[in-house]
Amino acid sequence: MTIRNIVTLPDPVLRRKARAVTRFDTALQTLVDDMVETMRAAPGVGLAAPQVGASERVIVVEYPEDEEVEDSPKKLYVLVNPEIVKPSEATVLGVEGCLSIPGFVGEVARAEALTVRGLNRRGQAMRVKASGWLARIFQHEVDHLEGIVFTDRAERIWQPQEPIVDNV
Ligand code: NI
Repeated sequence: MTIRNIVTLPDPVLRRKARAVTRFDTALQTLVDDMVETMRAAPGVGLAAPQVGASERVIVVEYPEDEEVEDSPKKLYVLVNPEIVKPSEATVLGVEGCLSIPGFVGEVARAEALTVRGLNRRGQAMRVKASGWLARIFQHEVDHLEGIVFTDRAERIWQPQEPIVDNV
């Protein structure tokens, strides 16, 4: 596994609509492994393939399964060609940062709960139900596949003094 460079704005790959994955070959497995390694090293809790310069519809997310429980084990999600289905009408405001926009955070309204549908790294169908911060991470990462970054959606953006945690 290799830690890849994380690209930052204004790199045009972050503004491109990523292409759907059709081949579940060794190049894809390497991309997934490298994305996991890169996310952990950053550190971050989510990463989309365009953030390592690959314009493909792949995201990785690693987050505690139950954020309400202290020391809940982290769960790794790898989704290929993910789609958000059934977003809740209810939205919540939260403060997000992005590994591709270092130093900035913004307050973004996101659906409180949703289902993500897609394929796993072997090409088998999978779905994940998520709420709270996990649901927010999935929305942020799927946005990256459309060339959308959080600052496009933020109601306000600022540069915090303290280090940013939970970057995505
Ligand atoms: Ni991001």
